[in-house]
Amino acid sequence: MNAKKIFVINGPNLDMLGVREPQIYGAATLADANKIAEQAAGECGYAVECMQFNGEGEIVDALHTAYRQAAAVVLNAGAYTHYSYAIADAVKMLSCPVIELHISNVFAREEFRSRSVLSPYVSAVICGAGVFGYRLAVLAAAEKLSHA
Ligand code: DQA
Repeated sequence: MNAKKIFVINGPNLDMLGVREPQIYGAATLADANKIAEQAAGECGYAVECMQFNGEGEIVDALHTAYRQAAAVVLNAGAYTHYSYAIADAVKMLSCPVIELHISNVFAREEFRSRSVLSPYVSAVICGAGVFGYRLAVLAAAEKLSHA
């Protein structure tokens, strides 16, 4: 475990931020979101490792790596949030703080987005703050770690 590293794991379609439904997700790109996370982590004395995967299994693999290497995880699992029991099981396995993140307000959108199969196993959920949520999520992770 790396006591000073926060994994920021992004799921499917988040590589298309800036292009994808900008009226919902905004104009910022994933590179912008990564920079926001990095800046917030630096302020708290942490490094970030930012990654993005379109595949469910790749996210599960990243969570396994987090088990060995990360002090905390920020996870925007995209649409997998709503139905992936495989990712939920991997999150459940982690003992470090996991912050579930959504750029959009998932409760103000289609009905299926209101349900997260991950939320029961995470330390906090942040949604609806746009890419600023990456900052909030990293700060929340650092705050949880300060009490760990
Ligand atoms: C999302 C919300 C999900 O419902 C959606 O499938 C995404 C992005 C968000 O960041 O708002 O891909 O997680």
